[in-house]
Amino acid sequence: MADSGIILGIESSCDDTSAAVVRGVTLLSNVIASQSVHEAYGGVVPELASRAHQQNIIPVVSRALELAKVQPRDLSAIAFTRGPGLIGSLLVGVSFAKGLALATGAPLVEVNHLQGHVMSHFIDEPGRTTPHPKLPFLCLLVSGGHTQILLVKKMLEHEIIGQTIDDAAGEAFDKCAKVMELPYPGGPAVDKLAAQGNAQKFTFAKPQIAGLDYSFSGLKTSFLYFLRDQVAQNPAFVAENKVDLCASLQRTIIEILLHKLEKAVKHTGVKEVAIAGGVSANAGLRSALCAFGQKHGCTAYLPALRYTTDNAAMIAIAGRFKYLNGKTASLDIAPLARM
Ligand code: KG4
Ligand code: ZN
Repeated sequence: MADSGIILGIESSCDDTSAAVVRGVTLLSNVIASQSVHEAYGGVVPELASRAHQQNIIPVVSRALELAKVQPRDLSAIAFTRGPGLIGSLLVGVSFAKGLALATGAPLVEVNHLQGHVMSHFIDEPGRTTPHPKLPFLCLLVSGGHTQILLVKKMLEHEIIGQTIDDAAGEAFDKCAKVMELPYPGGPAVDKLAAQGNAQKFTFAKPQIAGLDYSFSGLKTSFLYFLRDQVAQNPAFVAENKVDLCASLQRTIIEILLHKLEKAVKHTGVKEVAIAGGVSANAGLRSALCAFGQKHGCTAYLPALRYTTDNAAMIAIAGRFKYLNGKTASLDIAPLARM
């Protein structure tokens, strides 16, 4: 296949319906419909997410094709997120991809959502000047559902060398934000408030987990109990200390994340380090990774902000590499909530 093949990517694993088109490694369009319906519930409601995907999928795909100036018959392949994610959400994207594959004759390519996040580093847009990570590299994958350290050995080939044994880093942000009555998702809200706060003001429990694995449930509990005790003495404690609480919480999460990344660098000898996933949008984590790179003699790679949270550009680019390797899927493929 010529490298200029056109791939449509479809992402529907959680609460963002997204479609993107790439030609080669160049992104032509990336459309995302985020679902505000969940805000009132303080978290994603799976049933509502599936329904919103059902409403959004055709307009989103149509718009992505239109912006890319591409017709369905031009597609070389259709890449879609097979999992992990919410099964009802995944079913919408997978079924739509199958229908389009049948209608156009374009082959299907299944993509693992987490691999998509890693591949967000390889999305090229006209005018991109930032370099790609060089193989092998370490990728700290931090999202609402996952926290892992991956050793990426080859394109689309990685080993999980560390992962959370309970909550994900994004969950720690979201759950602690909820305790402070910040809007959902809490990560971006904490990030914004943290910029104005004193990160050294409060201290929270850090996990003592062996090896390269993570744990965030203890931090969440420590944060919750600390606030409960303080509010018992001063009901306005949270309101009066919000920015310092956010800054201190964010510092603690970043220290936990980078402590294990430092171990991973020592353990593997790999000096190329990247971050990916929704939490990689965090301003504190982004600057801490750059400082980490300087301190440890590593080259640090940050994904463009628009490709940190869920998007189909990363699915299209991952799909493109799989397609080039001949890895197409059959029409009887089913989504997987866990992969
Ligand atoms: O990758 P993603 O969009 O969805 C999953 O695959 O989970 O990640 C969503 C997570 C949420 O927990 C959200 O709070 C977090 O990413 N997040 C952030 C920021 N932006 C999104 N966390 C901290 N700081 C941010 N700026
Ligand atoms: Zn994600």
